[in-house]
Amino acid sequence: MRWWPRSIRWQMLLGLVLLETLSIALFAVLLFRFQQLDVRRRATDRVAHQANSLAAQAQEALQQDRLDWVGLSVHIMGEAPSVACARITDPAGKVLYVGKGEPYLFPLEPEEKTQIQKVHGPDPLVFAFGNDRWEGVRAITVNGNLRGYAWIESNKNWDSEQIADMLRGISIFAGVWIIASVLLVALISRAISRPLALLHKGTRALMANPESSDTFPLPVIVNNEFGDLIGAFNGMVSSIQEQRAGLSDTLSILDSMLANAPVGLAFFDRHLRFVRVNQVFANLTEIPLSRQLGRSIAELFPRSVGEPLEQALEAVFDTEGSVREIELSGTTIETGHPFTWLVSVYPIRTTTQQVRWAGIIVRDVSERARAEEALRRTEKLAATGRLAASIAHEINNPLEAITNLLFLLHNFSGLTEPALHYVTMAEHEARRITEIAQQTLRFYRQSTQPIRADIPDLVDSVLELYRGRLTTLAVDVQRRYRPHADLLCFEGEIRQVIANLIGNATDAISPTGGRLLVRVRPSRRWDASATPGIRLTVADTGCGMPPDVRNRIFEAFFTTKDATGTGLGLWVSQEIIVKHQGLVRVRSRVASPGHPSGTVFHIFLPENESLSILPIDATSAAPAQI
Ligand SMILES: Nc1ncnc2c1ncn2[C@@H]1O[C@H](COP(=O)(O)OP(=O)(O)OP(=O)(O)O)[C@@H](O)[C@H]1O
Ligand SMILES: [Mg+2]
Repeated sequence: MRWWPRSIRWQMLLGLVLLETLSIALFAVLLFRFQQLDVRRRATDRVAHQANSLAAQAQEALQQDRLDWVGLSVHIMGEAPSVACARITDPAGKVLYVGKGEPYLFPLEPEEKTQIQKVHGPDPLVFAFGNDRWEGVRAITVNGNLRGYAWIESNKNWDSEQIADMLRGISIFAGVWIIASVLLVALISRAISRPLALLHKGTRALMANPESSDTFPLPVIVNNEFGDLIGAFNGMVSSIQEQRAGLSDTLSILDSMLANAPVGLAFFDRHLRFVRVNQVFANLTEIPLSRQLGRSIAELFPRSVGEPLEQALEAVFDTEGSVREIELSGTTIETGHPFTWLVSVYPIRTTTQQVRWAGIIVRDVSERARAEEALRRTEKLAATGRLAASIAHEINNPLEAITNLLFLLHNFSGLTEPALHYVTMAEHEARRITEIAQQTLRFYRQSTQPIRADIPDLVDSVLELYRGRLTTLAVDVQRRYRPHADLLCFEGEIRQVIANLIGNATDAISPTGGRLLVRVRPSRRWDASATPGIRLTVADTGCGMPPDVRNRIFEAFFTTKDATGTGLGLWVSQEIIVKHQGLVRVRSRVASPGHPSGTVFHIFLPENESLSILPIDATSAAPAQI
């Protein structure tokens, strides 16, 4: 129905107007009908009564023979508003008297005349004729003789006037009634539609922006059930907003935990696809967050890691229990970086207690694994060192005998020139063996008390140990020692520092060759205290270090020499220097156009008379560093 309005307000108004108009029209028709019948009935009664009355007056006048009274009575009757025409006729129907005007002007019509036969006795006859005209007629008898008839014709206009009055009254009533009820309905419908429109607006605002606080709370504009409804709606919105705020707080907490947890976190659906991962996990896998979401494990991990992880996840989905601390080792797909992870897998349930996702917590234990490996190697090297020391010790006695025998042989007078040359060479080599054995022993022997050591001597002893390697690599070794460069220190530890520095420099120079400068001189601390002490400088023209390597060299286990380095050398050296209250400074650069590469280590060791503490445990790895 196109014409039927959509809004409740207009539906109520239009419906009411239609209903009222129809019912009032029906009422008016029925009332008109009844009124018409009633008016007709009353008109017949009236004309009968008026005809009676006129006949009675005419009889009276005729009995007293006063014909003028007859004319007067007709006249008075004719003046009544309900009478259209009052007449008196003779028995034949000739008009003798008429209310107003001349009798010959108002003769009986033939239709009226025919009614005369129907008038019997003293009863009046009422009949309709012509165009809905009503007339009453009664015989006038004096002393039993018929003298004529009294005729009263009803005033048609007077009757219809009454009906018109009634209809007018009904119309006014209907108009007032309709206007009043329309006003009432408009008020009621407004009381309904306004809060409804407000609720509608509020709902739309809530849908458009659930966070919005401008629209809410909605004003309670009516004080009825709709007002209660708006109040309840406001309550519902604020409770939703509170819940949302609580939820978003919880989400922020979870998000911050996800972002800042120091472990890798990842979540999988039943198809073992990533649904969420944190940044640490992305860093561990070296695959950006965005590339992981929606991917399967097989797509992102090598089989060695992917398969056990998939098995663990499937076990969690099947058994709905957790799988704790499985160790996974492999290399990252992107850079091939080796890693060892400790992974725990646990189920995540929905509110219906079904396992919907599985989460994994990944701890990177690569460092620990490498540390364990380094420790194993260090222990092996320490054992080898101890073995070397005991061999050196055992070699010492026969070596002394050989040296003595060679000395005797050298002084033997019967030797030929070439034999003397060979003996001299043998003596030289034996001396070298003695030196090496002694150095080896000295390195292993730990000093528990500080002694005054000559630093250039310590440097020489280390260079002596490295001589073979330095010669092979054609390293140009430059020694610059100033006098009085001795110091109270733990000799073995300082030797270890020097050995680490020279070892690193040799590694950096290898295999291209280059220069190694070792300088020892009395100096002052390079901070404000200016404490006197010794400055040791080890400089090389090796490969140098980029800044990211340079920044990490003192970290334990940091090494760029994958197979050959433990990454402990500088870490231990720094510990020793700190223990001696010294300082270390490094300058290094990699080769660039116009600038050769190289590294310079400056060590400052203060003159410290109160140095009496025991050597640190880390120095137990001393033989391993050489
Ligand atoms: N003189 C140098 N020139 C270039 N790089 C150096 C030099 N000295 C140290 N480094 C860098 O610092 C890293 C750490 O040195 P550190 O002595 O602690 O361990 P390492 O030499 O790798 O192993 P280790 O000494 O335990 O056998 C080295 O791997 C190397 O990359
Ligand atoms: Mg080293």
